[in-house]
Amino acid sequence: MTEGNSVLAKAREIKIIGFLCNWCSYGGADTAGVCRFKQPTDLRIVRIPCTGRMDPLFAAKSLIYGIDGVLVSGCHPKDCHYAVGNLYARRRLEVLKHFLPFMGIDGRRFHYTWVSASEGQLWQKTVTEFSDRIHRLGPNPGLSRT
Ligand code: FES
Repeated sequence: MTEGNSVLAKAREIKIIGFLCNWCSYGGADTAGVCRFKQPTDLRIVRIPCTGRMDPLFAAKSLIYGIDGVLVSGCHPKDCHYAVGNLYARRRLEVLKHFLPFMGIDGRRFHYTWVSASEGQLWQKTVTEFSDRIHRLGPNPGLSRT
């Protein structure tokens, strides 16, 4: 295997989970797909009804067990289909972001954002930048680091 192939093989091992709200960001990802915007392929999407349903433990456990990056995306503030779900999510996820280093997890492996169903280009930019960041960080050691 040449050095170039080994770099590609490493790049393929990266696993990112995206928890996307059904009403906005999932639609945004769909819009990006329909418009054929180029996107990274290492994102696995979990569709959730609202970011308010996002238990921070979903992200924490994913990272503890070795998922390389977790992205959460929902409706913009004041656009949540359940009125305030994303506002509750923002509070919880902000707390999570500050706790990750105490769990031995690099906080840069977690990101949350807001993308609406019509923002396919914003989705492409968001997911591409996050994926690039995770590739630069490399594989998450997870529990194996101890
Ligand atoms: Fe999208 Fe609440 S319905 S964040």
